[in-house]
Amino acid sequence: MEKARRLADILERVRSGEDPGKIRQEARQLLSTLRLTDISRAHKYLVGTGISLDQLRTLVYAFASILGDQFALLRANLGPDHPVRRILAEHEMFECFLADLEENNLMLQEVEDLTEVSSEFRRLGHIAGHLQAIDIHNQREDDLIFPALEAYPCRSICAVMQKAHWRIKNMVGNLTMAVNNFRNFEPVQFKIQVNALSSAIVPIMREHIFQEDNILYPVALDVIKDERIWWRIKQLSEEMGYCGFDAQPCCT
Ligand SMILES: [Fe+2]
Ligand SMILES: [Fe+2]
Repeated sequence: MEKARRLADILERVRSGEDPGKIRQEARQLLSTLRLTDISRAHKYLVGTGISLDQLRTLVYAFASILGDQFALLRANLGPDHPVRRILAEHEMFECFLADLEENNLMLQEVEDLTEVSSEFRRLGHIAGHLQAIDIHNQREDDLIFPALEAYPCRSICAVMQKAHWRIKNMVGNLTMAVNNFRNFEPVQFKIQVNALSSAIVPIMREHIFQEDNILYPVALDVIKDERIWWRIKQLSEEMGYCGFDAQPCCT
């Protein structure tokens, strides 16, 4: 616990604005002996201090800024048929859809006579359809990954991720709803709505994916050593198929 508490102190310093690079230099000895489970313990310790979920979210980010190199190493060591590889592949796809959303939103804002046949509107519908598939992806994590982690000291990390799932579901649902109800909007109002939603969805989803890639899954791989658990997750996961690759019908 001592190590976890020292890590928690370091994270507090990052949170208060100190440069993670400088701290990494200073805390090199501690960082070189850290295991990923120490991160979970530090997380748990901070939860015990009464920190809010939003503050924890910032700290999860700070964890990654300090320990990023170790996570890249873990990712490189994943087997080709490991179920986490599929999850990471879906994250990559969602990153592409987010880049498309960001770019298309800028273009859509410039269209003078926006109609349902405008290419920017049609593209938005397509992107929203792909993004809607995040529900299945998140469900896979909620139903298969988080319960498997119940027995390990990662609960607080899972709680942060689950809260983000709920927010993402709402925001992407609102984007789909706006696209489907285009006719009920004045074009100017539609643009404002799409701009507000895109500006919220893009950073929140990017941050969420970053946290899962750099914290949640490296910790999960570190703590779940029983291959039978991963095999079971893989089996159940295959029943859900890949998501994000086939768009759900969005605008009709
Ligand atoms: Fe997630
Ligand atoms: Fe995910």
